[in-house]
Amino acid sequence: MRSKGHNVTVSPHDRVLSKSELIEMGRGSDALLCLLTDKIDGEVLDGIGSQVKIVANYAVGFDNLDLAAIKQRGIIATNTPGVLTESVAEHAFSLILSIAHRIPESDRFTRAGKYHGWEPELLLGQDVSHKTIGILGLGRIGSRVAYHARGFDMRVLYYDVKRNEQFEQEMKAEFRATPEEILRESDFVSVHVPLLPTTRHLINAERLAMMKRSAYLVNTSRGPVIDEAALVEALRNGVIRGAALDVFENEPALAPGLAELENVILTPHTASATEETRAEMSRLAAENIIAFSEGKAPPNLIPLP
Ligand code: GLV
Ligand code: GLV
Repeated sequence: MRSKGHNVTVSPHDRVLSKSELIEMGRGSDALLCLLTDKIDGEVLDGIGSQVKIVANYAVGFDNLDLAAIKQRGIIATNTPGVLTESVAEHAFSLILSIAHRIPESDRFTRAGKYHGWEPELLLGQDVSHKTIGILGLGRIGSRVAYHARGFDMRVLYYDVKRNEQFEQEMKAEFRATPEEILRESDFVSVHVPLLPTTRHLINAERLAMMKRSAYLVNTSRGPVIDEAALVEALRNGVIRGAALDVFENEPALAPGLAELENVILTPHTASATEETRAEMSRLAAENIIAFSEGKAPPNLIPLP
């Protein structure tokens, strides 16, 4: 199809493309608008052709892009920051409330016809208000989760590679210099770091063991930040009370045993999946390409290494 003077080819598949399909689809294109499931490396770029000059990722996270290969070929890359902050933070907070109040488990229980009358101790959960939340990674999303947490009078702790004193004042938040301190002190740990070599398996068996036995772990960032097999073990053995995950280590596959556990909530990488946000992400990804094609600086350039 033609749109604003550009020829646009859209994948006819509503599934993840293989590497050869990706090359086939992209061949001859000047610009690539790709999803977080498209692994864009040197081989794909070379297959598509040397005319390709911009890779616009339809996601804020860009661990699917080989930035070194992109830079080496004189290509630029963009992402979609900002427009999904609120959706993802709302989803993270929904998971926090839902796991503490055992909402999906209670729903399963009620639908299964197991509700035979009110009981004082039926499906007891935990309050969220006045508890301690630990935020790992204080970007836009982590900050927004902190804002919601303050609405529940939670004590807010955060870890980030960069300290933010203005945020501490605004949110009455407390900085911790290591992830370990966050894990030891928090009732809820919410993960908002990007996937990098330094954050892969940031949460492993050893670090899970530092958490309170009563604590919950929530992840809306990237699956490989958590050692998922170690998490299954920890949940099974009561090392922590529960977990709520929107992302998985080997998406769309789940670690063996994960789906059988009652004390987890699993959502299929839909934290940014609201009508408003997905429309904005589409607009932003396209605008980056259009700006570039008009010789302007794309608004959301990813710094290349
Ligand atoms: C979604 O996971 C994104 O990075 O936008
Ligand atoms: C991503 O948008 C972040 O800054 O958390």
